[in-house]
Amino acid sequence: MSRLEPDAPAAVQKVRAEPKPRSRLERIQAGEPVETVTHEAIAAEDPCFEIDRFNLWYGQKQALHENTLVVPRGKITALIGPSGCGKSTLLRSMNRLNDLIDTVRVAGEMRLNGDPIYAPGVDVIELRKRMGMVFQKPNPFPMTIFENVVYSLRIDGERDKRVLREVAERALRGAALWDEVKDRLEDNALGLSGGQQQRLCIARAIAADPEVLLMDEPCSALDPIATSRIEDLMEDLAGDYTIVIVTHSMQQASRTSDYTAFMYLGRIVEFGPTSDLFQKPRLKETEDYITGRFG
Ligand SMILES: Nc1ncnc2c1ncn2[C@@H]1O[C@H](COP(=O)(O)OP(=O)(O)O)[C@@H](O)[C@H]1O
Ligand SMILES: [Mg+2]
Repeated sequence: MSRLEPDAPAAVQKVRAEPKPRSRLERIQAGEPVETVTHEAIAAEDPCFEIDRFNLWYGQKQALHENTLVVPRGKITALIGPSGCGKSTLLRSMNRLNDLIDTVRVAGEMRLNGDPIYAPGVDVIELRKRMGMVFQKPNPFPMTIFENVVYSLRIDGERDKRVLREVAERALRGAALWDEVKDRLEDNALGLSGGQQQRLCIARAIAADPEVLLMDEPCSALDPIATSRIEDLMEDLAGDYTIVIVTHSMQQASRTSDYTAFMYLGRIVEFGPTSDLFQKPRLKETEDYITGRFG
């Protein structure tokens, strides 16, 4: 039997029949499944890395919910969203760095150039060579500038001095650091400035010839001049590399990236070309975030 009496006043019937529609953010907060809004332009891109209904839990707590995202080849993709929304967790999942945490459990899939990276038998060391990673705080190894850059080749047993030298020069040029360090390659890397150290970390990452470069707030420890050098460098590297950058700075995302994904509470809310996402977002929730109304 209907709880709505047939003779109830019209106003009451209306209120009961049409509950106030809740916003997407309220539905996300309530833990309901919410589909990502992906702009059509993405479909025209060549996928390099695919995230397919990926979920991650830290113990009981779910940190990523049904994340689906195609990272276009040779482009820069930015992940933005309020602190704690899962940007770093998603980035670290892309080279399986989260495997190092005991309590982590995952479901769903990710593919690098078609290869499932969570499939049984995947060599995680090999995978990490294919995915260069640059962290928030520059982390050069306490060794010479030269040895930092050729580190991955040393690990692979490369001994040919000429090869090492060539790779080091190419990577340092690629990272826009060569001119500053070419006469001091034997100096300890820890003597470099913060911005130089971060470019050295980028050189070390690209020396391994990765398919994707992951950057987690790579400029947050740098001054504005060093930041702008890294941003210029990213522009130079795009095309040759597929870059995913996590940034809390919307200015940085809009300056540097081709595509932007807005994340909230472990969901990818909206994903599209950066200019569209910032200038004409599809969702009110995205607009509210980029205009500073929350977060
Ligand atoms: N090692 C961890 N163990 C447990 N919870 C974690 C861990 N790392 C992150 N989290 C939680 O997962 C959520 C997402 O964090 P994170 O990916 O660091 O977000 P963001 O990078 O967007 O700031 C947060 O609630 C955070 O507290
Ligand atoms: Mg983070």
